[in-house]
Amino acid sequence: MADKLIIFDTTLRDGEQSPGASMTREEKIRIAKQLERMKVDVIEAGFAAASQGDFESIRAIAGIIKESTVCSLSRANDRDIARAAEALAPAERKRIHTFIATSALHMEKKLRMTPDQVFEQAKQAVRYARTFTDDVEFSPEDGSRSDMDFLCRVIEAVIKEGATTINFADTVGYGVPELYGTMLRTLRERVPNSDKAIWSVHCHNDLGMAVANSLAGVMIGGARQVECTINGLGERAGNTALEEIVMALRTRRDYFNFDIAIDATQIVSTSKLVSQITGFAVQPNKAVVGANAFAHASGIHQDGVLKARDTYEIMRAEDVGWAANKIVLGKLSGRNAFKQRLEELGISLDSEAEVNAAFGRFKELADRKSEIFDEDIMALVSDEQQSHQKEFYEFVSLSQHSETGEKPVAKVVFSMDGKESACTSNGNGPVDAIVNAIESKVASGAELLLFSVNAITTGTESQGEVTMRLSKAGRIVNGVGSDLDIVVASAKAYLSALNKLHSKLERLNPQL
Ligand code: KIV
Ligand code: ZN
Repeated sequence: MADKLIIFDTTLRDGEQSPGASMTREEKIRIAKQLERMKVDVIEAGFAAASQGDFESIRAIAGIIKESTVCSLSRANDRDIARAAEALAPAERKRIHTFIATSALHMEKKLRMTPDQVFEQAKQAVRYARTFTDDVEFSPEDGSRSDMDFLCRVIEAVIKEGATTINFADTVGYGVPELYGTMLRTLRERVPNSDKAIWSVHCHNDLGMAVANSLAGVMIGGARQVECTINGLGERAGNTALEEIVMALRTRRDYFNFDIAIDATQIVSTSKLVSQITGFAVQPNKAVVGANAFAHASGIHQDGVLKARDTYEIMRAEDVGWAANKIVLGKLSGRNAFKQRLEELGISLDSEAEVNAAFGRFKELADRKSEIFDEDIMALVSDEQQSHQKEFYEFVSLSQHSETGEKPVAKVVFSMDGKESACTSNGNGPVDAIVNAIESKVASGAELLLFSVNAITTGTESQGEVTMRLSKAGRIVNGVGSDLDIVVASAKAYLSALNKLHSKLERLNPQL
C-alpha cells in the first residue's frame, strides 16, 4: 500500500511574507476556499500575532473551512500561542505551528539566546500549544544549518511534550538534495521517539532547489508532509511550489508511489487566483502553470505531438486545469448563466446583492468586449470585492492624449477620502503621465519598484492586468488593477498601491 503524503499549503503565511504580497481578509478567504476545493490537507492561514488584521483573517477562515485543517504560525512564546489558539477556535480541525531558531548563528545573532534557553523555550511552547489542540507542529528554524546533536536534543524533547509534526526547515534555501535528505534521515534515526511524529519538509528556493530538496526529504529522509505555496510564492526566491510537487508525484508515481489528496484539475485556477490577488505574475516558462508550459512552439515538437501526444508531453494540460481560454459568456448571457459560471469557478459571493453587483460589472464589460473568459470573470469579481472596502483613494475617470513626437498628457479624476479632484500632467509616456498627475495631488513620496502589464487572456481585446509595486519608509506594497484600457488599469493599480500604503497596517514578520 502506498503511504499518504500530506500537502501543507503556506501561501497565506510564508507566501504573504513576499514583499508586497499582503492580502486583505476577503482575498485570503477566497484563496482559502480555493485551496480547500483543491483538497489541500493543511492550510496555514497566517500568523495570528502579526496584527489584528491577520488574527481576523485566520479566525474567519477557521470558521469557513471544513475539510482542510486550518493552521496558524506562532513564535515559541505564550502570547503568540494563545493568540493562534484564539484565532483558530472556530475551526473544525486546527493546528498550532510553533517555531524557534536552532542554528548557532540564529540563536546567537538573532535571538541572543543560549542553546539551553532555546531548548527550554521550545519545550514550553509545545507544552502550552498542546493545551489548546492535540495537533501541534514544531519547526526548528534554520534547521538545515543547525548542529545535529542539538537538533536531536530539541526534537526529542518537543516530541515528548506532544509535538505531532516535526518540520525540518531549510529556511535560507541552503540545502542540497542529497545532503538535506540524508540529514533528515539521520535525525529520524537518531531521535529515539521519532516514530511518534510525522516529519515534514519546508524548503526555500534561494538556489532553485526547493522542490528537489523537498522530494529528497521525502524519498531519502522519510518525510510524509511537504510544505509549499502556490506558484512558489514566498520570502526572497520563494518556497517549494505546490504545483510542481503535486505534478512530480503524480507524473512519476512509478518512482515516488505516494497517495495525495489534491485535485490537480484545480491547479491552474488556483495559480491564476493567487497571481491576480498578489500581483505576482507567473513567468511564461514556469513549470505546470506558466503560459508556455504546454505550448509546443517548435515545428518538430508540434509534429510529434500531433502524431502522438506523449512524444513530447509528460502531463496533459487538461489534467492540471488548462481549459484553453474557453469563451464562457457573452453580451447576451443572463444572470443565471453568470451565476452558474461563478459556482463552477468556485467563487461564492456572500449575498444576492453581491451577485447582482458583479453581474452589473459583467454586463458593462460585455458591452465593451465580445468574448468573456474565465479570467475576465475572476478579475471583475476581484474588482467588485475591492470596491466594497471604502478606500481612501478611488478611481473615477481618465482621459489621455498621445501623439508621435509629443509628450503624452493625462487627466485623472479620483477621490481622496470621498472628495473628488482632477489633476493633469504630462510624462515620458502615458503611464508616466498618469502617475505624475496623481502624484501632483498626492505627493506620496513613494518609490515605484515595479510596473508590469499582463494580458489576462489572449487577443488584442484582452483586459490588461497591471501591477505597481511601491516602497516607502521600508514598507513594500503591490497594487493591482485591470481594465480593457491598460492606461486605466495602470491608474487603478497605482491608486490601489497608494491605498495599501495609506492603510499603514503594521504587521510583524514572525522570522525577524
Ligand atoms: O522558513 C522557515 O523557517 C519558516 C518557519 C517559520 C517554518 O517559514
Ligand atoms: Zn519559510
